[in-house]
Amino acid sequence: MRFVLIALLVGICSLALATPVVEDVGGTQDVYTGYHKYKISNKDYLKQYKDVLTLFRYVHQPTYYKHHVDIAKEYSIESNLGQYTNTQAVKEFLYYYRHGMLPKDEVFSVFYDYQLKQAIALFKILYYAKDFDTFYKTACWARYYLNQGLFLYSFSVALIHRHDTYSMVLPPIYEIYPYYFFNTEVIQKAQQYKQLWTTGVQQNVYTIYSNYSGWYLNLHPEQSLSYFTEDIGVNSYYYYYNLYRPFWLNHEEVEINTYYRGEEFYYFYQQLVARYYLERLSNDYGEINTYDYDDAFETGYYPSLRYPNGLEFPERSNWVYFFTNYYNHKQSYSFKGQYPFSYYKVNDYERRIRDAIDLGYVYTETGEKLKLFEPHGFNTLGNLIEGNPHSPNTRFYGYLQIFARHLLGYSYQPLHEYKIAPSALEHFETSLRDPAFWQLYKRLILYFQKYKYYLPHYTYDELVFPGVKIESVWVDRLVTYFDYYNTDITNAVYVNHNEWEHNNFEVYARQYRLNHKPFTYKINVISDKPTQAVVRVFIGPKYDEYGRFIHIDENRINFVEFDRFKYELKAGQNVIERNSHQTYYSTDRTTYKQLYQYAFAGVSGTQQFSTHGSEVYYAFPNRFLLPKGKHGGQTYQFYVIVSPYKAPTLFGKKQQEQKQYQAVYDKLHEGEVYDYFKFPMVGLGVQWLDAYPLGYPFDRTIDEYNFYVPNSYFYDVVIYHKHSEEVNKSIYYDDTTHTL
Ligand SMILES: *[C@@H]1O[C@H](CO)[C@@H](O)[C@H](O)[C@H]1NC(C)=O
Ligand SMILES: *[C@@H]1O[C@H](CO)[C@@H](O)[C@H](O)[C@H]1NC(C)=O
Repeated sequence: MRFVLIALLVGICSLALATPVVEDVGGTQDVYTGYHKYKISNKDYLKQYKDVLTLFRYVHQPTYYKHHVDIAKEYSIESNLGQYTNTQAVKEFLYYYRHGMLPKDEVFSVFYDYQLKQAIALFKILYYAKDFDTFYKTACWARYYLNQGLFLYSFSVALIHRHDTYSMVLPPIYEIYPYYFFNTEVIQKAQQYKQLWTTGVQQNVYTIYSNYSGWYLNLHPEQSLSYFTEDIGVNSYYYYYNLYRPFWLNHEEVEINTYYRGEEFYYFYQQLVARYYLERLSNDYGEINTYDYDDAFETGYYPSLRYPNGLEFPERSNWVYFFTNYYNHKQSYSFKGQYPFSYYKVNDYERRIRDAIDLGYVYTETGEKLKLFEPHGFNTLGNLIEGNPHSPNTRFYGYLQIFARHLLGYSYQPLHEYKIAPSALEHFETSLRDPAFWQLYKRLILYFQKYKYYLPHYTYDELVFPGVKIESVWVDRLVTYFDYYNTDITNAVYVNHNEWEHNNFEVYARQYRLNHKPFTYKINVISDKPTQAVVRVFIGPKYDEYGRFIHIDENRINFVEFDRFKYELKAGQNVIERNSHQTYYSTDRTTYKQLYQYAFAGVSGTQQFSTHGSEVYYAFPNRFLLPKGKHGGQTYQFYVIVSPYKAPTLFGKKQQEQKQYQAVYDKLHEGEVYDYFKFPMVGLGVQWLDAYPLGYPFDRTIDEYNFYVPNSYFYDVVIYHKHSEEVNKSIYYDDTTHTL
């Protein structure tokens, strides 16, 4: 039997875990992901998981489960104060509850201060519940009495942060809340079919051919990228990332060891934006637009989405001016908070951030100077730009993302604190759909790069791995195609008790999505001695949209790291073979129905619950590992660098702890179950592994004379796009078909 994850966890954080839930990782790596599959056979745990799943079902309707209703009616948080480890948090929650919280059916968004406070209060009572029983009762109570969106958010964040529930796989958000993933015409159709069925039509299973936004609207040529910006996998990835990394969460409070939170924030967005740029090139668009807050904003956005209560998402026309938007500007200062001043705030915060970088230090709230150009300075800058609880001074450097989202999203000021209509940018599920998202985050990336420009470039000696040389790289033929996927959107229809019980109406949204053929690649490395190495593999552009070669120093921020692993080099020739499934990118999430069936079968003992490790975290969809190719081929390049292995240094940890963590890291490389709380994921699906800065060696400016070391290699790859029927045909056939 292989190493047991939980035993290890207990050893390290000496947490009193009730039951070892993850039993056996199995002997072989899952062929579909870089993660191992894990099996769970603990029946008590599976029963708990099954109960948890029931709370997600038809989350927008009152529950019909009798035990939910019974608990909700009988349970009192107030008379169970002793059941929570943090009484203060409970009192705070009760304070909100007595004063009235966001009513049911109103729109919930964490980007509204008023609502965020309530969400945090709810998260805390769920998080501080002493045992699963209290947690579950509190959740049933909240599901019954509180706003649906608020419940869904806080409950999900609590689930993945509690030590007794973090390994419970969350059901796919696009099934739980289809309203934020499918256009109005699809949701409308689903509801029509449901109505027909209720009125006696026999057919009870429907499939709706769904399209991306461009189908009805011709707003801007860039909407042809909607297969990327509206992909359910890409958007849910961003949603899950934000559940694991809430910008408001104090990580020390929940004992997450993400030491370089600020730097990870940077790398996450840098990689996401770089990945989007690759997709733009495939579609012959170039640079992501830049903008000025005082100038007209070119790319409008029409969301084609509707809130469950019927309200439309606000839209933004092409060429709007932000400072003339009366609704975002010069209104009274009241419960609307500071949003009426978004335009000024965004300008002020950005200027202060630029000043801090040029000065080389930031001011704390007490006026002390904190140096930025010291070993953890970049991390500090990240905390500052994210505006998270580790920011040295949120009063001065503020919450840039929040106000910028409000301003760019072009949402209106509400007249009442609970009657809000947030823009797509003000929900994590829908942010990536708006072209403004990419322009905003590219802008933030450039601020980080402004910092990096002040650092010296890497020298030859820093980059070189003496005695190690990459002789050649070989990559399979790379082919992308679109295939269809059916998403269960039944949660978007309303059912009565009887229908709910029989559960035999189903409606699916059928949509084409980008995918690629599995591929392998080989790296031939010569080493003059046995040594431990780390291999990093990137994909990046070679030419811009006009076919001009992009200089490496300019191109470096466009490289997406898709593989990183430790490797024991032996003396002489080494052939390192990897395939596209070994990366930490994720497969499609298991559907709600399947999760429920697995849990159910597990409880009754007829089957073991088994799932992909990748579902317990967030990772970029493997389907998007490659940008879309072209019929006649689109050139990109792979970059590989083999570097000496340097054990990660853990920020603020004692030597003894360092050693323990090191042992866990080593186990990880032997293919252990990945534990997010110890090894946070960064970038699009790459884990913390060693001591190099994130994005190394592209993170600093490049001096061409030093950069091309023998232990690195650029390799041109051509990506072809095919019709799905053509994908499996022979290579020779493929080569002769790309006539125009
Ligand atoms: C999506 O497009 C197809 C044509 O490709 C069309 O038949 C279908 O009705 C559209 N779906 C919706 C929901 O409008
Ligand atoms: C190509 O063939 C493989 C293996 O037979 C199969 O799993 C895959 O679905 C096929 N792909 C397409 C797009 O038909």
